[in-house]
Parts: sequence; C-alpha cells; structure tokens
Amino acid sequence: MPNTIVSNHPLIQHKLSILRDKNTKPNEFRSLVSELGTLLCYEATRDLPLVSKVIETPLMKTETKVLAEKIALIPILRAGLGMVDGIWNLIPNACVLHIGLYRNEETLQPVEYYNKLANYRTVDHCLILDPMLATGGSAIAVADILKKWGAKSIRFVGLIGAPEGIKALHEAHPDIDIHLAAIDEKLNEHGYILPGLGDAGDRQFGTVDLF
Ligand code: PRP
Ligand code: URA
Repeated sequence: MPNTIVSNHPLIQHKLSILRDKNTKPNEFRSLVSELGTLLCYEATRDLPLVSKVIETPLMKTETKVLAEKIALIPILRAGLGMVDGIWNLIPNACVLHIGLYRNEETLQPVEYYNKLANYRTVDHCLILDPMLATGGSAIAVADILKKWGAKSIRFVGLIGAPEGIKALHEAHPDIDIHLAAIDEKLNEHGYILPGLGDAGDRQFGTVDLF
C-alpha cells in the first residue's frame, strides 16, 4: 500500500494506547483525539508547498517562507469533529467545511445528511478528517463529493484504519494519501475495527449507551 503512511512516533503510539482503553472517559477521549489530530497533521503536511515572502524582523528585511496554498479541513460528522481543533491550531488559516454521513447499521453504506461545501472552490488542499477508516465507505463517499465539487488535492487523516477500508479507499481513489496512527487487524461482522477503540463518535460525545 504505497500511499498509506502510519506514524510510529512514540507520542502518537502512547496516546493511541490510552484512547483504545475502554476505561478512558469521553473528556480524556476528546482531548486525545484532538492531540492525535495535531500530531498526525504535522506528519501529513510535511510536503506542502511554500512560497517566499519578504518580511522585516526588528533588525532588517529578510526573505522567509510561508504556506503557498489554501487548506481546507473536512471533518466527517460526527467523529471527525474531534480532530478539527487540534489541527486548526496548527493551520489557523485553514477553512473548515462540514460533511455529515452516518453508516446504515445493516448495509454499512454511508448515508449523507449534511453538506456545507462552499458554493465555489477556493481551496488547494483538502484534508478529510475521520478517526476511523473501517469499510472505507464514508471516506470514499466524501472523496467522491469533494472531487465532484472540484477538489484536486485530497489527503485522508485518520487514527485507525482496517486493511479492508485502506484497500477500498486506495482502489477508489489511488491519488489520496492515507495518514494513520495504526493499521488494525480486521473488521468484525458489524463492520467495527478489531481491536479498534469502539465507536469513535459515541465515545467522544458520551452517547455510548444511548443508541
Ligand atoms: C463512523 C466513523 C466513520 C465511519 C467509518 O461514523 O466516524 O465516519 O463510521 O466507517 P466506514 O469506513 O465503514 O464508512 P458513524 O457512521 O458511526 O457516525 P458518527 O461519527 O456520527 O458516530
Ligand atoms: N466506526 C467507528 O466509530 N468504529 C469502528 O470500529 C468502525 C466504524
């Protein structure tokens, strides 16, 4: 899988371990999702193009480098929301465009319920944010929507991927790099990642026993 990048940075692996633990409560879970978003985004943006800019330090003029292009963060609702703040802190000029999808529990097919893409495309790079890449259906659907909208450069940033989802996303969109903290073993019969961390949305929003 040439375009799947898994970070083995010790801080990422340490935080992921706490995130997976069933005893980790929503408050800590949300903080960890955000921190992992920051760390993974740092890795996922290491080749973004730069342009020269002349600025004045307190002592003299000098040529510096700044990001050349506009970046959009596309969290997949709900669970992707938790990754936004951590990444936005790193790229404060990014815009955030929301797409809402949920998986039909029986078919595991994504159902779109919200789309807040701007009327016209003004971004150069799209980062799709979602902690879980399970069957890959949600990520593929969002990439389809973004490409129809006109997006040319898309990356997926997630926490845990199943081999099935990575393969499906790669086959559907071979141009999209996939940045993850871990590749897990497989999906269970309900489409959950094993060992995984459970339901990323429910664990963030405290709704584990409600649905
Ligand atoms: C989860 C997760 C992904 C999707 C992954 O969302 O956040 O969006 O499932 O599964 P897939 O790769 O098989 O499509 P869910 O549908 O549970 O919605 P939620 O974020 O609102 O809980
Ligand atoms: N969505 C989740 O939140 N967790 C999984 O394991 C699979 C899909």
